[in-house]
Amino acid sequence: EWTTGNIVEEQVEAIREQVGEARAICGLSGGVDSAVAAALVQKAIGEQLTCVFVDHGLLREGEVEQVKRDFVAATGAKLYVADDKERFLSALAGVSDPEEKRKIIGREFIRAFEDAEKAILEEAAADGAKVEFLVQGTLYPDVVESGGGEGAANIKSHHNVGGLPEDMQFKLVEPLRALFKDEVRAVGAELGLPAEIVQRQPFPGPGLGIRIIGEVTADRLEILRKADAIAREELTASGLDQDVWQMPVVLLADVRSVGVQGDGRTYGHPIVLRPVSSEDAMTADWSRLPYDLLAKISNRITNEVQEVNRVTLDVTSKPPGTIEWE
Ligand code: XMP
Repeated sequence: EWTTGNIVEEQVEAIREQVGEARAICGLSGGVDSAVAAALVQKAIGEQLTCVFVDHGLLREGEVEQVKRDFVAATGAKLYVADDKERFLSALAGVSDPEEKRKIIGREFIRAFEDAEKAILEEAAADGAKVEFLVQGTLYPDVVESGGGEGAANIKSHHNVGGLPEDMQFKLVEPLRALFKDEVRAVGAELGLPAEIVQRQPFPGPGLGIRIIGEVTADRLEILRKADAIAREELTASGLDQDVWQMPVVLLADVRSVGVQGDGRTYGHPIVLRPVSSEDAMTADWSRLPYDLLAKISNRITNEVQEVNRVTLDVTSKPPGTIEWE
């Protein structure tokens, strides 16, 4: 019988058999798939697994803590954190072109992961152990998709942070290969992962880097992070977050508009809310969120985030608009 409990048991057995006494590493992205894959492998081989988290500084508020604190608390996994915030910021300095940003983030991610990998290999070698396996959160739809043509890949270079160097010497462990997303979420819940991780909506690998229209800087990330946190908090509080596929919050960093706040004229930046409904992200419609909710998000953002004096709503379907702005 195909129950979540059985899937866990079966996979734990299979992983033990595959890995034996060797060691494994697993990259965590902050997303559902890598977290569930890592939690499964942790359950199977415990201390033989080291998880790697490259902190590229492009995650949303609270997400780094979800990995560093909550994931570790829930699983007991050994975690290697690479603080690479500066590395990504300097690589992105002066770059506004979306494809250029994606390429830089992808390239730096691979380099950062390789550096972390080296440190872990050396540590293992000092123990006389060998790291032979790399854990990946590949799902069934990914397996199918990589066999066929992927249309979307031609429109934007979709790389998954967590997508890795091609010249790798590792054997792959892919415990989620037979599963769909909702099954992965169920397995994650069964393994005791917190709801914030298991129920997380899709979020692009390049993170907030492609939600700042213009150059990515530390200040701009800070502004977007605050606005995004408010929007997500209110969407969750309204109970409508499960009806929405995702709601990118975008900072138009190169655009300024005049406003009046308190008794002064301001010259701030607009924020765009992009709530969408979708089945599979290939097509999407803009979500008809209640006006009261939109008003609340708008009021809070313009009151609490000093640099933002205008909140706008994106009412474009996909196609012609993509879900993300870059
Ligand atoms: P678009 O903007 O192409 O997005 O309509 C479709 C879905 O893919 C997500 N997305 C990404 N996911 N790496 C990812 O892992 C990426 O580079 C990337 N770009 C877009 C987007 O959030 C939406 O769910």
